[in-house]
Amino acid sequence: MQLDGKVAIVTGAASGLGRASCIALAKAGARIAAFDRDEARLADVCRELGGDALGRVVDVANEESVSTAIDAVVAAFGAVHIAVNCAGVADASKTVSKGQPFPLATWSKVIGINLTGTFNIIRFAAVAMTRNAPEGVSGERGVIINTASGAASQGQVGQAAYSASKAGVIGLTLPVARDLAEHGIRVVSIAPGLFDTGMVSGMPPKVSQSIVDRMILYPNRMGQPDEFAGLVRHIAENAYLNATTISLDAGARMQAR
Ligand SMILES: NC(=O)c1ccc[n+]([C@@H]2O[C@H](COP(=O)([O-])OP(=O)(O)OC[C@H]3O[C@@H](n4cnc5c(N)ncnc54)[C@H](O)[C@@H]3O)[C@@H](O)[C@H]2O)c1
Repeated sequence: MQLDGKVAIVTGAASGLGRASCIALAKAGARIAAFDRDEARLADVCRELGGDALGRVVDVANEESVSTAIDAVVAAFGAVHIAVNCAGVADASKTVSKGQPFPLATWSKVIGINLTGTFNIIRFAAVAMTRNAPEGVSGERGVIINTASGAASQGQVGQAAYSASKAGVIGLTLPVARDLAEHGIRVVSIAPGLFDTGMVSGMPPKVSQSIVDRMILYPNRMGQPDEFAGLVRHIAENAYLNATTISLDAGARMQAR
């Protein structure tokens, strides 16, 4: 898809991978609808983007919040061509900790945001995309990009809910791509390794350093958000990428802890 003048929704836009995706897509000429639940940081990102970027406080886990926000994007920009799902949380707990079971509220929160939230954006954005005129030789109407994680298949101690949510994102990629193929809409997920964002700065430094030292193959460092955003841009532009999950992890193989 040619990005110039296209409309891109990015969730988790106020920080990390979402923020970098907004910047990369805006540089390619896309108009950005930035969704996040963090109002203050979202305002900072919209100021940084300048132009006609639309910032919207959205809770991706909430159906009404998502549907009204996507209606607002269509009202403001006339269409939705690209949806990038980056909103996510990584709350962790052991399955049994100090004699207590994994808190169900934590499980529901992580699944609600990472998995149900991703699907909320997918289904409402896809409805808007079906109304686009087909473009180019492929007749493309839209592209949806999700953020999974290496933890989907290599979750560490404490990551039961997070890993399950990200395995769910990988699992839905093919069937949703199959559902939307007849509309000319592609679906691709990215499984990042360890990236230098707010999510990781919340970890104890010795945990993230140990991952870098022992589990990342090469290069021996965290990924930078603009390396993720570069892949987002490429997926959006390359019409032949569909129904797959791409690892972006410097060959990382996660261990238990
Ligand atoms: N950073 C990593 O190493 C890494 C690795 C693998 C996967 N990921 C995934 O990448 C995505 C982006 O993470 P990040 O590293 O940029 O983290 P981050 O914490 O920097 O950004 C996440 C953003 O999501 C927003 N958010 C959280 N819940 C929300 C909700 N209910 N509705 C709307 N917005 C919400 C937060 O406010 C925040 O701005 C997440 O899905 C995360 O699981 C990150």
